[in-house]
Amino acid sequence: MKTRLSVNINKVALLRNSRLGNYPDLFQFAKDCEHFGAQGITIHPRPDQRHIRYTDVPVLKSLVTTELNIEGNPTPDFIKLVLDTLPAQCTLVPDGENVLTSDSGWDTIQNKAYLQEVVAQLQSSGIRVSLFVDPIVDMVIGAYETSADCIEFYTGEYAKDYSINPEKAVAPHVKAAEEAVKLGLLINAGHDLNLKNLAYYKSAIPNLAEVSIGHAIVADALYYGIENVIQMYLHQLKG
Ligand code: PXP
Repeated sequence: MKTRLSVNINKVALLRNSRLGNYPDLFQFAKDCEHFGAQGITIHPRPDQRHIRYTDVPVLKSLVTTELNIEGNPTPDFIKLVLDTLPAQCTLVPDGENVLTSDSGWDTIQNKAYLQEVVAQLQSSGIRVSLFVDPIVDMVIGAYETSADCIEFYTGEYAKDYSINPEKAVAPHVKAAEEAVKLGLLINAGHDLNLKNLAYYKSAIPNLAEVSIGHAIVADALYYGIENVIQMYLHQLKG
């Protein structure tokens, strides 16, 4: 399966927000990522708006020509933003108000009724809905029971353990992905994926539909430039 690269541009917004004005230009960056070959743009507006601001979202929606993926915790404000924007995909993430970054997936069993309701609300507006989950078979089954279209595996632990034992690090993802394929769920993945660990992940999960990558792409762009970096990540996904 061809795996889409969706570039998470939160870190570019963070840099912009460190000064007044619009430099670097977040919107031009998104357009350039697409021009250089990215197949999607991901944004994760958080309640404190420290990276993506709510006002950025309609502008990005109007200029992204690939797929816009909006990630976040489904607070009432977030749901309203998503329904006003109508992105191609919305990824629901259970992150608390003050977390540095998302660090675990949904308990899809405990939150099943709540997720079913949010998933149905977004799907009725034509939005593909993905649930951020840890690579655990029961969480995949729970996600399926909410009627979500996709799951996004949290790859933070994989990335941490990859350098010690890649095979062991990816094993839970392989097992959970097999279950997802059986249930007909699309498989996305994200968090701490980078040029060292991405190709191995892709080779272990052949049915990977999309990866969303932000931190490493922006950090690598400091050395190689964003055009080169997108080519380098696309190359890792060639399989
Ligand atoms: N997926 C989710 C749900 C996230 O919260 C993030 C970080 O915002 C990512 C993917 C991308 O992670 P990274 O910035 O480490 O590539």
